[in-house]
Amino acid sequence: MANELDALISVLEKMKNSGIPTVPISPENLDFLEHYSPSRTESAPVSHCPPRDVPPKNSEENGGSQTKNYSPTEIPTIAFHGPQKKIFSSKQEHWEDLRRRVLENETLKKHVRPGKNLVFGVGNLDAKIFFCGEAPGADEEIQGLPFVGRAGQLLTKIIAAMGLTREDVYIGNIMNWRPEMDTDTGNRPPTQEEMQHCLPHLIEQVQIVKPEAIVALGATAVSGLLGYDRGRKMSSVRGNWHEFCGIPLMITFHPSYLLRNGTNRMKRVVWEDMMKVMERVGMAISERQRKYFLE
Ligand code: URA
Repeated sequence: MANELDALISVLEKMKNSGIPTVPISPENLDFLEHYSPSRTESAPVSHCPPRDVPPKNSEENGGSQTKNYSPTEIPTIAFHGPQKKIFSSKQEHWEDLRRRVLENETLKKHVRPGKNLVFGVGNLDAKIFFCGEAPGADEEIQGLPFVGRAGQLLTKIIAAMGLTREDVYIGNIMNWRPEMDTDTGNRPPTQEEMQHCLPHLIEQVQIVKPEAIVALGATAVSGLLGYDRGRKMSSVRGNWHEFCGIPLMITFHPSYLLRNGTNRMKRVVWEDMMKVMERVGMAISERQRKYFLE
């Protein structure tokens, strides 16, 4: 058992050093680890990514041990804070803690212009669908909220066409700050390094929400989530299922691309991607919805 635990600890430490801040852990596993490694406070069994919701074992299967029965949304998660681990009893508690850690982070704050804000994700912590953009723009850094400018208004319309509201889904960005430019206007895409810096916060949001599908909006978000690949073409990866943290990932065009190329044909392309997402998460699609943007 000691060898297995050492191997586990070494994997955990590597993950932690590579910037993975949290790991989900079931109450049973936590009890087990506490029992076998009482002197260690930093280690926990991990998967890089959120486990699909597995019902907790009942006490009979457990050999009668006393284990709290958690509902899927209550399964505790763990975040590493320096040398300490923190266990949260609800998604809301974990999300608020993460949000505070991001918004009060001095290193992140250094990237924000005077009077502007860092941006953290918003939405339903039990959402089935998690939309992921690249970085805040001018409107977002003023309001401190993702997707509230023109592209955001179009995203809101896409969500409405799916029969949902922004409160039904989760919306986040890889970046927490608007990438700096020499001029006050315009945006630039974040670099891979910038995205790598912020990605752990996005991963932790995914781990909290545990969505059934993630939608990557645009090529930059795809590079941030899946890593840069010179040969990757949006035309061949969009509309197909990929995977991020073990969760199905749909790639589609960014709403700002639609604002520039808003032909019915292009709207239909994005809409077909959204219908795939709806199907994947078990949403009904009406006959009327199936015909949107058909010429
Ligand atoms: N574009 C993004 O990728 N994210 C936003 O929040 C706004 C625009």
